Amino acid sequence: MENEKRYKEFIELDKAASLGGGLSKIEKQHEAGKLTARERIDLLLDKGSFVEMDKFVVHRCTDFNMEKSKIAGDGVVSGHGKIDGRLVFVYAYDFTVLGGSLSASNANKILKVQSLALKNGAPVIALNDSGGARIQEGVESLTGYASIFYQNTLSSGVIPQISAILGPCAGGACYSPALTDFIFMVKEKSHMFVTGPDVVKAVTHEEVTKEDLGGAYTHTSQSGVAHFMNDTEEETLTSIRELLSFLPSNNMEDAPVRPCNDDIRREEESLQQVIPDDPNIPYDIKDIIEPVVDDHYFFEVMPSFAKNVVIGFARMGGRSVGIVANQPAYYAGVLDIDASDKAARFIRFCDCFNIPLITFEDVPGFLPGTNQEHNGIIRHGAKVVYAYAEATVPKITLITRKAYGGAYIVMSSKQTGADVNLAYPMAEIAVMGASGAVNILYRSENEEAKAEAVSEYTQKFANPYRAAELGYIDEIILPKQTRYKLIQALEMTQNKSVTHPPKKHGNMPL
Ligand code: HXC
Repeated sequence: MENEKRYKEFIELDKAASLGGGLSKIEKQHEAGKLTARERIDLLLDKGSFVEMDKFVVHRCTDFNMEKSKIAGDGVVSGHGKIDGRLVFVYAYDFTVLGGSLSASNANKILKVQSLALKNGAPVIALNDSGGARIQEGVESLTGYASIFYQNTLSSGVIPQISAILGPCAGGACYSPALTDFIFMVKEKSHMFVTGPDVVKAVTHEEVTKEDLGGAYTHTSQSGVAHFMNDTEEETLTSIRELLSFLPSNNMEDAPVRPCNDDIRREEESLQQVIPDDPNIPYDIKDIIEPVVDDHYFFEVMPSFAKNVVIGFARMGGRSVGIVANQPAYYAGVLDIDASDKAARFIRFCDCFNIPLITFEDVPGFLPGTNQEHNGIIRHGAKVVYAYAEATVPKITLITRKAYGGAYIVMSSKQTGADVNLAYPMAEIAVMGASGAVNILYRSENEEAKAEAVSEYTQKFANPYRAAELGYIDEIILPKQTRYKLIQALEMTQNKSVTHPPKKHGNMPL
């Protein structure tokens, strides 16, 4: 009988804890167009797989009458579960409890999940919706963040870390997501800023809405802080599941292999016509990427930021690959500061997690101008060469058209460590385009002599044969053969093993 009473008491306490801040706060959360922490976790994980931990943790603060507002769980819901049958760890800030603010106690819940994830080699997903440091706890809350950032840093490159911003994320709290691998945001619902609109106005007299300052559009298209923008929370959570399907659980594993029903030898006639005869006419590089990957499916990362470079995941023969491509349809595919940062970070992510890199190259060079030079295109561009050179995963490069100057070198050229370098017959591998070169070499000549020189230069350099003669290009291929040629290169490099000189870590230009 005594036990029956205890069971009942536990069931009631558990039920109360499941309600977080209570029914009225849940209603308020729904009215704001947001799901609760537990609803989010249910949508994210495989049905019924969530194991909640620390459900009865409460805070220990006694200042500001806080002893009267102890709520089981203390504003964070945490634990583990499965996505596509694979273990993941998750924590979600519960905005219904003191605005999901971070206390010393709930920081410990987060740290527990982070360290279990690291020990067990499984991804961590953080669902952010929080007012930041719990004001009543002062420095104790701040140290909670510090410990979380420390753990984020230790986990970097060992397990994938993914953040979704599903409400406010302000102040130093932004730095935990910023230390993770991918950030998802929801249109009009999520905001990230180091200082909010009021502080901005007080300090700089600028008037700005929170959406303009740190909404999903701003961070996915202007700042490059976030990688994905979705219309709804539901889409965001589905998208996180999909992203994980391309990734291994940790840096010691390979990404899961999917059965491939798409013929690996499939020839795609349409590819023969994608690249225009006139090298100055743009085309969409995704018209080459999509037809060659499994089921024509390309999962693009950062689609709205620095569109002159395209990055994302796909599968080839069932295996995950990371794709980096210049985009001739946007600023002619030129490399600028943002494109360099975008490409370099993605290359490093793929290298951390054993995902082979395929580079589609059509690049006229680095973007000229004082804006770029004064803002450091030299150090930003250097990140790309560093990231490619450092990467030990299989690296396959296909030059589709232009490969000019320094940009040819940095985009995974043979001497920076690429394993297989392919080119289409219309590839142009040269120091620069013909008219640019002639304008320098024949500056004082008349137009007729210049035209002749352009034709000579074009004949000599606007092709892949000089590079192929020297062995810098391994094979010249027809566009329609691309899929099978890339898969053959991936198969050949599958057991690649290289090591770099021992060191603590390199000093990448930042
Ligand atoms: C304690 C907080 C809180 C916080 C919100 N609440 N933020 N409690 N500490 N940081 C409480 C509110 O008092 C309220 O309690 C409930 O959460 C919901 O908040 P509302 O303001 O009613 O919600 P809303 O109108 O949606 O506004 C959300 C908000 C706003 C924009 C996040 O609450 C806000 O500006 N909060 C303060 C944000 C902030 O400056 N945080 C510190 C950032 S600096 P009741 O009881 O009324 O429901 C920081 C440093 C980290 O975090 C450093 C790391 C290195």
